[in-house]
Amino acid sequence: MKVLVIGGGAREHALCRSLSLDSDVNALYCAPGNAGIAEVAELRPVDQLDGEAVARLATELRADLVVVGPEAPLVAGVADAVRAVGIPVFGPSGEAAQLEGSKAFAKDVMAAAGVPTARSYVCTTPEEVDEALDAFGAPYVVKDDGLAAGKGVVVTDDRAAARAHALGCDRVVIEEFLDGPEVSLFAITDGVTVLPLQPAQDFKRALDGDAGPNTGGMGAYSPLPWADPKLVDEVMASVLQPTVDELRHRGTPFSGLLYAGLAITSRGVRVIEFNARFGDPETQVVLARLRTPLASVLLGSANGTLDTLPPLSWREDAAVTVVIASHNYPETPRTGDPITGLAEVAELDAPYAYVLHAGTRTEGDAVVSAGGRVLSVTATGSDLAEARDRAYKAVARIGLDGSQYRTDIAAKAAEQR
Ligand code: AMP
Ligand code: GLY
Repeated sequence: MKVLVIGGGAREHALCRSLSLDSDVNALYCAPGNAGIAEVAELRPVDQLDGEAVARLATELRADLVVVGPEAPLVAGVADAVRAVGIPVFGPSGEAAQLEGSKAFAKDVMAAAGVPTARSYVCTTPEEVDEALDAFGAPYVVKDDGLAAGKGVVVTDDRAAARAHALGCDRVVIEEFLDGPEVSLFAITDGVTVLPLQPAQDFKRALDGDAGPNTGGMGAYSPLPWADPKLVDEVMASVLQPTVDELRHRGTPFSGLLYAGLAITSRGVRVIEFNARFGDPETQVVLARLRTPLASVLLGSANGTLDTLPPLSWREDAAVTVVIASHNYPETPRTGDPITGLAEVAELDAPYAYVLHAGTRTEGDAVVSAGGRVLSVTATGSDLAEARDRAYKAVARIGLDGSQYRTDIAAKAAEQR
């Protein structure tokens, strides 16, 4: 099978790594990719948001499957353009991707499907904003309605800051604060059949101890030793299947990856957000644990044949990933700094620890930073403590001037064993 992956972050590196290890895959391309992905796939330049260009590239490469990684091309309808030329695509239509592209649309789908989520108001005027803030009280949760790369959400006790963020958005969702640990649960679906993956936990805040601003995600681990073993079944029944069914009944069937961001509150599981694609960095740890070859599963979603596949198989191993981010991330990050230590990790830590590239590019012989999140250092082990040790040992070998990473990824969960 010839596979073309669209995107160029650590999630796409993780997808390409798994696909490159799948004996069903005999040609692997990534567009535009990054310096690390170039080691496992052939890179092609493309404007990811240009559906016609992506469809042309897929046709030219005679791709049997196109996998669209990030949300922006999905919301822009890139999967529709590829489907229109008759090539199977992993990823939802632009319309179905509104589940991630519009928080208001997601809330409407959840209400119709009876999916538990935070109570919320959609506001467009200062008066509506004030009313909603006062209705819920502190802590305030204010979300830009549109795509914002994980940075459009402000959670604060400061009413003035909450109001200022709300007034800076065209349309804003203000909602009830949900307490309790967060879980990311992904499911692969063809619009009818839903296959849940293993849950993971993401670390959204920039600094240790969950301090600092929200980011795209600074690290992740899986499995979750503290979670109820029935969690996946419960979320399948109360969230994932009803959402997929609701979207199908509306005439906007959702195929691809449905990402449920959940809060485990004292009153039960609540959906914080949906995404329409694999999460980054959770994908790095979930795929590290998946034993089933990936291509057949992604193709089953694209072709509507998931019901014919055997159940997914998982390794006993635990996995941890630590994100190394640029100086000043999540504000305007500094780029162009040389990265050292990559060869040492490959030589000394493989196969248990490896570096997945996010924002990197080559400059002559050097690999330099090219984005906010630069690397996602991933490791497996017999338990979280071992995976964590291996990940941080590898992180310590990497040099990137001014870079930052959290030192507490999976720390609490590893102590619990
Ligand atoms: P989102 O982009 O909706 O995932 O929000 C980003 C982060 O903000 C989430 O991962 C949570 O940590 C936090 N957050 C979002 N909504 C809520 C909520 N209703 N209650 C508490 N925290 C929230
Ligand atoms: N890790 C959060 C996300 O992918 O949206």
